[in-house]
Amino acid sequence: MTLQLRIYVPEHPLIKHWLAVARDEQTPSVLFKSAMNELGRWLAYEAVRNWLPTVEAKVKTPLAECDATFINPEIPIAVVPILRAGLALLDGTQNILPLASIYHLGLARDESTLEPSCYLNKLPSNFTPETRILILEPMLATGGSIMTAMAEIVSRGANPEHIRLVSIVAAPPALQKLSEKYPQLQIYAAMIDEGLNSQGYIIPGLGDAGDRAFGT
Ligand code: URA
Repeated sequence: MTLQLRIYVPEHPLIKHWLAVARDEQTPSVLFKSAMNELGRWLAYEAVRNWLPTVEAKVKTPLAECDATFINPEIPIAVVPILRAGLALLDGTQNILPLASIYHLGLARDESTLEPSCYLNKLPSNFTPETRILILEPMLATGGSIMTAMAEIVSRGANPEHIRLVSIVAAPPALQKLSEKYPQLQIYAAMIDEGLNSQGYIIPGLGDAGDRAFGT
């Protein structure tokens, strides 16, 4: 498979550790939720590198004036968790982006057709093209949900160059679709897995991320 896509799998022991905890079928729901929280935090940390706009300024320490770099408060930052499972990554992401606006998008997958349908859309009517948008979608499987989410976001004026996607486990079918339609998109994932089973679950994956995070 030829991928134009930019997918990054950070080599980090904390990411590996929390992925292992999340994958383990023995992990109880409360610990699974913590693992997702940690993965959200560290993957979002990696994803915002070279992406958050900054401004140069001067500050006075108690001893002297010096150069300083701040996050540019004039560029909007948006986080779009894809419900349900994306909610499990939100706390960790908000820890590092406390001022971001959160726009929930609820997509449910029909288990027979595997097609997504939207049951909640809190996206704004427009994004300014410079808005930085971080999408939280833990499982990139068939690609149905993420392609629907990207279409909704881009149709509101977002620039795909400024969108980044945080995922936990990514599989080739979703990556192929994203690479064809959005080659500019940068994805940060804990792992790329081998494929899907006949029900559209990622193998080895971690099971149903929403059910495991919420003890459903
Ligand atoms: N959604 C999940 O929660 N898990 C999968 O393996 C695929 C889609």
